[in-house]
Amino acid sequence: MPGTRALIFVLTFQICSLETETPTAGCTFEEDGDLNQCEYSQGVEDDFEWELIRSYLLPHLTSDLPHGSYLMVNSSQHNPGQKAQILFQTLSENDTHCLQFSYFMYSRDGHSPGTLNVFVKMNGGPLGSVVWNVSGSHGRQWHQVELAVSMFWPNEYQVLFEAVVSTERHGYLGLDDILLLNYPCSKAPHFSRLGDVEVNAGQNATFQCVAAGKASETERFLMQKQNGVVIPTISVKHISHRRFLATFQLDQVLKGDQDLYRCVTQSSRGSGVSNFAELIVKEPPTPIAPPQLLRAGSTYLIIQLNTNSIIGDGPIVRKEIEYRMTSGPWSEVHAVNMQTYKLWHLDPDTEYEISVLLTRPGDGGTGKPGPPLISRTKCAGKSLHYFVYQENH
Ligand SMILES: *[C@@H]1O[C@H](CO)[C@@H](O)[C@H](O)[C@H]1NC(C)=O
Ligand SMILES: *[C@@H]1O[C@H](CO)[C@@H](O)[C@H](O)[C@H]1NC(C)=O
Ligand SMILES: *[C@@H]1O[C@H](CO)[C@@H](O)[C@H](O)[C@H]1NC(C)=O
Ligand SMILES: *[C@@H]1O[C@H](CO)[C@@H](O)[C@H](O)[C@H]1NC(C)=O
Repeated sequence: MPGTRALIFVLTFQICSLETETPTAGCTFEEDGDLNQCEYSQGVEDDFEWELIRSYLLPHLTSDLPHGSYLMVNSSQHNPGQKAQILFQTLSENDTHCLQFSYFMYSRDGHSPGTLNVFVKMNGGPLGSVVWNVSGSHGRQWHQVELAVSMFWPNEYQVLFEAVVSTERHGYLGLDDILLLNYPCSKAPHFSRLGDVEVNAGQNATFQCVAAGKASETERFLMQKQNGVVIPTISVKHISHRRFLATFQLDQVLKGDQDLYRCVTQSSRGSGVSNFAELIVKEPPTPIAPPQLLRAGSTYLIIQLNTNSIIGDGPIVRKEIEYRMTSGPWSEVHAVNMQTYKLWHLDPDTEYEISVLLTRPGDGGTGKPGPPLISRTKCAGKSLHYFVYQENH
């Protein structure tokens, strides 16, 4: 009888209780809150201010508003379209963070108090477009929203909350518990670092945004230019159940499209915001001056490419000459790897047009032909010999 073998399993559980970690920054608006690091400021380019409410100090506060300490906008006290902005403290972080906040939007009769817009500015740049927004009346309760903002130190990010009063001017907007948490969002996907894209003018530019985390069925993917223009996605692929690849294409870009671009996801539960990547548009090079004629024969022309001055961008990876008979229908292109070039097998006493083509790296890197040299081959040499015969009788 074989001896009894005892198998001992040792199971180790490590329970990560993220909720117990303390936020690295935040505003709960409580007077005696342990988050005394709360820093926020009222906007300066808006129409009115958010009010700080402490319900325990207001015994006759309307039952439309929740209890507690928070920021509030009373829509009926302002005009339609008027705005109140709050700037959360500047953030400059290295690791993954989730920025969380809660909003309240309620009017007893169901009318919309207004719109709550959220913006993320980088390095004091323009406000850009809305990263997340909500309108309407959403019950007498708080709703939590997550912003997965990809932050890359030493860049500085500032989140701005904006209340815009509706035409109905009914009810209240509230804002509370703005917290920077040092773990990933659970309701919004985080973007990986978006790289810069360089293309030649006239080409299509493609940005590929990879996001990890939970995305809802109704998640919208879009790309935002720093100046505010929004570009729709052309495709979203699910790489695995928690990874997405969103592709954006800008058609036939020109120098004027050069700007900073970022990827954004939006759902009712939150937004993911990537870093800004640069679109670099290079101009294919063209010589400023025509090539120079060094020598002409009856069947050849020797030229100097004369490409020291160019319009457009380098580096130049290929030089070619394009030549044709001024009166002829055909043209030919030859690659050139020296500063001088001899065109062979030409017709005598014929006019030719010769221009230089320059190419930089990448698709569509060949610039327009430079200004042409117009030059004529000499007459055929045999016409110089005369035989004179005279018959004398
Ligand atoms: C909001 O404004 C209306 C109109 O001015 C006023 O009647 C109401 O009491 C205000 N609510 C609060 C909580 O101050
Ligand atoms: C980010 O990392 C750099 C280099 O490791 C460090 O000097 C800097 O203090 C860090 N910043 C923050 C906000 O953690
Ligand atoms: C959010 O903002 C966008 C762009 O400004 C706008 O088209 C959309 O209607 C807004 N959504 C809500 C719910 O206000
Ligand atoms: C650019 O994209 C368009 C469609 O969006 C396509 O028709 C065109 O061929 C592309 N151009 C280049 C140079 O790839």
